[in-house]
Amino acid sequence: MKTNFSVVPRLLKKDPILAKRLSKAFLAQRKAMAIDRVFHPSTTDELGLIYFRLTPLCNLRCVMCGQRGDKGVLKGSFAANEAEKIVPLEDYKRLVDQIKDKRPVVYLWGGEPFMYPDLFPLIDYMMEAGLVVSVNTNGTYLEKFAKEIVERKWHALFVSLDGFEETNDRIRGAGSYKRVVAGFEAINREKERQGSHYPYMGVVTTVNNLNYKDLYSLAEATRPFKLAWHIYNLGTYTNDAIVDEQRAFMKRELDTDITCLQGYATGYNDDIDGKELYDILSRIHDMDIDHPIITVPALAPDKIDVYYSKLDEPVRTHCIVPWCQANIDYNGDVHFCADYNDYPLGNIREKPFFEIFNGERAQKFRLALKRSKNGLFPGCVRCYQNMLCGKRVNGF
Ligand SMILES: C[S@@+](CC[C@H](N)C(=O)[O-])C[C@H]1O[C@@H](n2cnc3c(N)ncnc32)[C@H](O)[C@@H]1O
Ligand code: SF4
Ligand code: SF4
Repeated sequence: MKTNFSVVPRLLKKDPILAKRLSKAFLAQRKAMAIDRVFHPSTTDELGLIYFRLTPLCNLRCVMCGQRGDKGVLKGSFAANEAEKIVPLEDYKRLVDQIKDKRPVVYLWGGEPFMYPDLFPLIDYMMEAGLVVSVNTNGTYLEKFAKEIVERKWHALFVSLDGFEETNDRIRGAGSYKRVVAGFEAINREKERQGSHYPYMGVVTTVNNLNYKDLYSLAEATRPFKLAWHIYNLGTYTNDAIVDEQRAFMKRELDTDITCLQGYATGYNDDIDGKELYDILSRIHDMDIDHPIITVPALAPDKIDVYYSKLDEPVRTHCIVPWCQANIDYNGDVHFCADYNDYPLGNIREKPFFEIFNGERAQKFRLALKRSKNGLFPGCVRCYQNMLCGKRVNGF
C-alpha cells in the first residue's frame, strides 16, 4: 500500500511559510525520538504537536466512534455533565502564552469542536500567537460559518466523511453527507470571493466494515471539493481481551483505572477482506486526482488482514508521543494519549503547562513506556497517534 507522503512536500511548496512551520514541528518529533527519548527519557524539550479536545459534546453519533458511538464512553447525560467542566477561553489564552515559543502545531478536535462556545476567539488568539491551527470537524457547521472561517484564514480543516452518501449517512447519521458537501461548497465559494487559499481542506475517512467496499465511490465523489489531501485512516480497534490486559497493566504499572479503550471494542473491524481493501485503496491511489491520498498506517498488501483480525499484533512500535505531543482535554487535564485519556498528568487550570509536561506523573509514564515491550503498552497496538509516528515493524 502506497503512502503518497512524497506528494506532501510538493503541496507545501505552494505555501513555503506554512511548510517551514510544519517542518519545525516535524523536526521536534525527530529530535524527541533521537535525543530526548534516548538520552534523558523521563523528560523532554520538544513539543511539536498539541491536541485540544475542546468539548465532549457532539451533534452526531457515528457508530464506530470511541466517544459517542455504539460503544462510546461519553454517553448522554454523562457527556452533558462533563460539558459543565469545559475550560474557559481565558485559561486557554494563558496556556497559549506558555507554549507559543515552542511553536507547536495545534490540532483542535472534540467531540465536535464547533460546539465549544469560544472557538472563534480561541483560534484568533492562537493565530495571533503565531501557531499553525488545524481543526478536525464533522463538517456539519462549515456552511454556517464559511465566511468567518475564510476571513480568519484558518490554516487547515480535517473534515470527516466515511463514504458516499448512503454509506456515510448509515455511519454518521441521516443528512450528514449533504451537510458536509454544502460546507465544502460554501468554503470554496468564500475562498474564491475573498481570493484566499486558506483554509486548506482535506477529508479523513475512517475505514470500517460498513464502508470499505464503498471507498472508491467516495473518492470519485470528492473531485469537486478542491481538497488538499484525503486521509484513509484504517481505524482504531480493540477487543475485550486487550482491554482486560491493558486494565491490569495500567493498574499495576501506573496505578490507573482505564475507561476509554473499551469504546474502541466495536467489532467494526470484523470481516474486512484485506485483499479486497488493498485492491480498492490501490485503485484510489492510482486515480488521476490532484490531491494526495494518504493511508494511515500504510501497510504491505498481505498485512491488512493482520491489522483487522489480529488486534494484538503491532504494526508500529516505540511510541514517541510522550516526548513531543500532548492532548489538553475539555476539562483542562493534560494527557499524552488523545484517545485514551485515563492518565491525567495535571491540569492547566492549576499549573503551568511545562511543569505538568515534565512533572512527576509525566516522567513516570515515559519511563514505564520506554521499558515496555516494543515501547508500547498492551492497549497501544492500534493507537492512531502511534500509527502516525511509530516505528514500522519489519515486513509491515
Ligand atoms: C472523534 S472525531 C472528533 C472530531 C469531529 N467530531 C469529527 O468527527 O471529525 C476525530 C476523528 O476520529 C475519527 N474516528 C471516529 N471513530 C474512530 C475509530 N474507531 N477509529 C479511528 N478514528 C475514528 C473520526 O471519524 C474523526 O475523523
Ligand atoms: S462527529 Fe466525531 S465526535 Fe461526533 S460521533 Fe462522529 S466521530 Fe465521534
Ligand atoms: S501508543 Fe500508547 S502511549 Fe503512545 S499515544 Fe498511543 S496510547 Fe498513548
